[in-house]
Amino acid sequence: MGGFLFSVRLMISADLSQVGQIEDDAYQFPWPLQLFRECLQARNHVVVAVSEDQPSKVRGYALMTSHSDEAEILNLTVDSKFRSQGIGAQLLQHMITQARTDGARQLFLEVRESNASASRLYTRFFFKQVGRRIGYYQGSEDREDALVMERSLDH
Ligand SMILES: CC(C)(COP(=O)(O)OP(=O)(O)OC[C@H]1O[C@@H](n2cnc3c(N)ncnc32)[C@H](O)[C@@H]1OP(=O)(O)O)[C@@H](O)C(=O)NCCC(=O)NCCS
Repeated sequence: MGGFLFSVRLMISADLSQVGQIEDDAYQFPWPLQLFRECLQARNHVVVAVSEDQPSKVRGYALMTSHSDEAEILNLTVDSKFRSQGIGAQLLQHMITQARTDGARQLFLEVRESNASASRLYTRFFFKQVGRRIGYYQGSEDREDALVMERSLDH
């Protein structure tokens, strides 16, 4: 087996068009590109996962904000053609390490209740459900609850 197939680096504005395509393909209600631009300009952690041999090809991305002793993952998405290869786990591990470096003691995220594959990933990384936001997400017919998940970074 060779080394890692994918690596994580900071997102740059040249990545934005690929990020927008992945986002539009992944979600029924995608983030507008402007929101990614604003996150890049603000002091957030914004990274992409790229193929090791093609570092300009974006395969996934993650955005996180941290403030005092809490951090929150705002978006974590992998290109549908590149899922189930460990990229989501690699991005999540990167953010957990970054949050620790920032001095955060708790890492939060929200996930649609119906999003089983994302929930499995988070559970695998020791996230626990700590809350529920009723009707938080827009749905095609109805609104859907968000589960609030937390990972303690104390150990
Ligand atoms: C959720 C999401 C980010 C996961 O990304 P991913 O790159 O597929 O994640 P991973 O590859 O690390 O793990 C996914 C599955 O692949 C499996 N896997 C990982 N590496 C593998 C490998 N080398 N060989 C076989 N299977 C593997 C994992 O065990 C996991 O299995 P599970 O779903 O049965 O638990 C991705 O599905 C996605 O972008 N979904 C749409 C957007 C979304 O819902 N984002 C989360 C919003 S909160």
